[in-house]
Amino acid sequence: MKSKTEFVCVECGNVTSKWFGKCQACGTWNSIEERAVTAVSTPAFARGASFTNAPHSQQISRPIAEISYDDSERIKTGMNEFDRVLGGGIVEGSVTLLSGEPGVGKSTILLQICGLLGDNKKLLYVTGEESPSQIKLRAKRLGVDSEKILIYSETDINEIIGEADIVKPDIIVIDSIQTLTDESSSSAPGSITQVRTTTSKLIKLAKSASISVIIVGHVNKDGGIAGPKVLEHMVDTVLYFDGERQYSYRTLRAVKNRFGSTNEIGLFEMDSEGLCEVENPSEYLLSQRPTNASGNCTLCLMEGTRPILAEVQALVSKTSYPVPKRTSTGLDYNRLSLLTAVLEKRIGLNLSSCDIFINIVGGLKIDEPASDLATCIAIISGYRDIVVDDKLIAMGEVGLSGECRAVGNIEQRVKEAIRLGFTTIIIPMRNYERSKQKLDQIKGNANIMPVRNLIDCIKVFGSKNNE
Ligand code: TYD
Ligand code: MG
Repeated sequence: MKSKTEFVCVECGNVTSKWFGKCQACGTWNSIEERAVTAVSTPAFARGASFTNAPHSQQISRPIAEISYDDSERIKTGMNEFDRVLGGGIVEGSVTLLSGEPGVGKSTILLQICGLLGDNKKLLYVTGEESPSQIKLRAKRLGVDSEKILIYSETDINEIIGEADIVKPDIIVIDSIQTLTDESSSSAPGSITQVRTTTSKLIKLAKSASISVIIVGHVNKDGGIAGPKVLEHMVDTVLYFDGERQYSYRTLRAVKNRFGSTNEIGLFEMDSEGLCEVENPSEYLLSQRPTNASGNCTLCLMEGTRPILAEVQALVSKTSYPVPKRTSTGLDYNRLSLLTAVLEKRIGLNLSSCDIFINIVGGLKIDEPASDLATCIAIISGYRDIVVDDKLIAMGEVGLSGECRAVGNIEQRVKEAIRLGFTTIIIPMRNYERSKQKLDQIKGNANIMPVRNLIDCIKVFGSKNNE
């Protein structure tokens, strides 16, 4: 077998055969590392050799029907938001990656979970970032005090595996993967080689000893899991912990989940006693919304695979200029001009005599047409001074004839809207026709209102049609 080397970027994982100062794929400087590769040999029978040369002589693969399973025992942490995002709890022998920016609260939430589980499960909390006394201080603040939580300050993966062998814990927490090292590799902690080797050792440990492993991974400024993207492919579940620094709210989302859906989000609030679950998320979303004010509507946008609800506000006032003003924050100016023209022509609003100011609350930028319908509702509501129901949400693209066109991921959007407490959900008729069965299953007490065009939509949100 011939051994050679290849060059890999520690930021994006791109592999090249030559060394570059700057990664050809992601443009990062000084991120290329050399590593050894062993050429994969062609299987004997593929080379025409006899099957008898195979490394084993008996069949090992088994029919799927004969494989037994124990319905994937789940460990319920007691923190409902966390359990729900995981799909019902931590699966035994699974490897979960908890990623998020430094300071968002990853160590805090894990210590709290250890506290909740401590009486029933044996936990090994491995820290490479903080000293045991720092953890103790934090635990005291969080009211976590259980004899079964073992704190181990170590960064050598082999030592950690050795300790796990003696302790035999149910759950191991690794805080964080970027601090771990394996002696077999000479590269720095946090580099792609180290992260890959240490993670694969942890995965092996999890699967062979049925220990659930939770790995903390910091994300870099671009939101990628620092260093290697490869980590995401290796683990069973990837959770993303996110929050604005200015606000105390935090969201937990599953980006990948081999044992459940990735549609659930968990909401937490950080206070002096750690993270508290936000039991009524709609309250959080609506907390800063003006009630009984015209010109507001809630929309739903997809951020990657995640649906996010946001609010669009429209202020429509008589103009004192010869050419009316159109100002937009968060929504494309051309899209606003188009929607304004459609509303004038198809609904008959006299918008050429009005200034229009649009704002997407929370500093979000909208780049998908699914927000058209909500924007139109906000403008109509602002123009006619009609209050839109707080619990109404609209999603759909508006075409030039005023028709409502279907949007992607309708089930995910509707699910999120229902989860956040909305009761009237306006969606395009085409979407409804296509996904009727599934939508009926998930809708619960909410009313799903399919509309064909803007006129239908106005009827739903309660226009007095006084034009
Ligand atoms: P931490 O869990 O250390 O973040 P990470 O492990 O993701 O880097 O959280 C640190 C932040 O959380 C810090 O800015 C202070 C805040 N915090 C509270 O507000 N209340 C608390 O009870 C705790 C423990 C932390
Ligand atoms: Mg930490």
